[in-house]
Amino acid sequence: MSNSIQVFNKYAFGEVTEQQVNAMMPEAEQALEVLEKGNGAGNDFLGWLHLPSSITAEELADIEETASKLRTTCEYVVVVGIGGSYLGAKAAIEALSDCFAPYKADHTAKVLFAGNNIGEDYLHDLMTLLTDRRFGIVVISKSGTTTEPAIAFRLLKDLLEKQVGKAIASKRIVAITDARKGALRNLATQEGYKTYVIPDNVGGRFSVLTPVGLLPIAIAGFDIKELVAGAVEVEQGCNCAILTYAATRNALYRAGKKIELLVNFNPKLHYLAEWWKQLYGESEGKGGKGIFPAAVDFSTDLHSMGQWIQDGERTIFETVISVGEQQNRVIIPHDEADLDGLNYIAGKDVDYVNKMAELGTRLAHVDGGVPNLLITVPALTERYLGMLLYFFEKACGVSGYMLGVNPFDQPGVEAYKKNMFALLSKPGYEEASAALQEKLRR
Ligand code: PA5
Repeated sequence: MSNSIQVFNKYAFGEVTEQQVNAMMPEAEQALEVLEKGNGAGNDFLGWLHLPSSITAEELADIEETASKLRTTCEYVVVVGIGGSYLGAKAAIEALSDCFAPYKADHTAKVLFAGNNIGEDYLHDLMTLLTDRRFGIVVISKSGTTTEPAIAFRLLKDLLEKQVGKAIASKRIVAITDARKGALRNLATQEGYKTYVIPDNVGGRFSVLTPVGLLPIAIAGFDIKELVAGAVEVEQGCNCAILTYAATRNALYRAGKKIELLVNFNPKLHYLAEWWKQLYGESEGKGGKGIFPAAVDFSTDLHSMGQWIQDGERTIFETVISVGEQQNRVIIPHDEADLDGLNYIAGKDVDYVNKMAELGTRLAHVDGGVPNLLITVPALTERYLGMLLYFFEKACGVSGYMLGVNPFDQPGVEAYKKNMFALLSKPGYEEASAALQEKLRR
């Protein structure tokens, strides 16, 4: 079995032929060259490209030391952030953890997340849980001004300071933000928090391999050196898998397959798909273009979305992430009475059944007109996860350039904020507020 990530596109052919995909490889190679030479659109945001190989041992040790301090002093650490300041850490912790505990089995600090929604009940329930518990906060915001994390942080900071006093609270808060600007930078400087910097040239959705992702992952007890080592392998290895993925998905898009479903057969990968959705959605969806990135968890969603995928409008293709080895084996027992009729798989492990579900589903969907890409990863370990994260990042850059967009900006996300601030009467939004009121009156 391979000890790396592989991409297989043999079931992607039908409406798009193998020759057509092969004919797009030079275009993919050219997009890769533009990315690597740094002469494409958005080239002031390419800091992520060599992050894995440029993180120093000292930087990693410092992150591990901060993580260890928080772990030993806190029962809970709340990671406050949204979008790129949240999804990478959430994805990695979920992928690596025991399914019922968001941290490594032999560690005690539980990592919780906040600031990724504006749910009043969510914040109420979180604060109720944390009342009289030893907790710390890692607050992450590149701009330092995002509303959702700012509200959550104000509430949690207040709770913590009331519990332990300002001096102790300031030792249990870590801020990750811009080096110089933004409200969070000012606040952190004033309160004397430990801080980490999100580099100017790394956009939020490409920041998982900075302290944004690494600190929460380390707090949860996982080996960030291994994670980074995995990413380095892909950074310095062959780009074949990246080119195959980028060329095939663009060929399918041009043939009318406008929606990509990222499919997993492992519940631990749900948030990896959420991270991927942000990465590809914000990078490619602009200028009236872009594959719509959607995701499903199988076999769960075969019982809800299966009908549509098999038989609905033929505008989709699937990319299945297949995990080679599980961490544990669970064997289906023999039952004398066999009232449930399952003895035909007695003695098999559960993953064997899952793999047959995976293969059977792929073949059925291909027959139903859904082209299929397969990405294989040997196991869900820190190393392989690091590979997968970096693989998707680099393929996203290549793919975005093939599509003809700047994959590193996100002008569209400002529109709702402007309306929200106007409706909330935020100072500076008076004109927008008047225009909105007028629109609502009509
Ligand atoms: O990728 C992005 O740029 C966004 O998703 C941001 O990460 C998100 O909006 C949060 O922004 P910030 O880190 O400035 O609070």
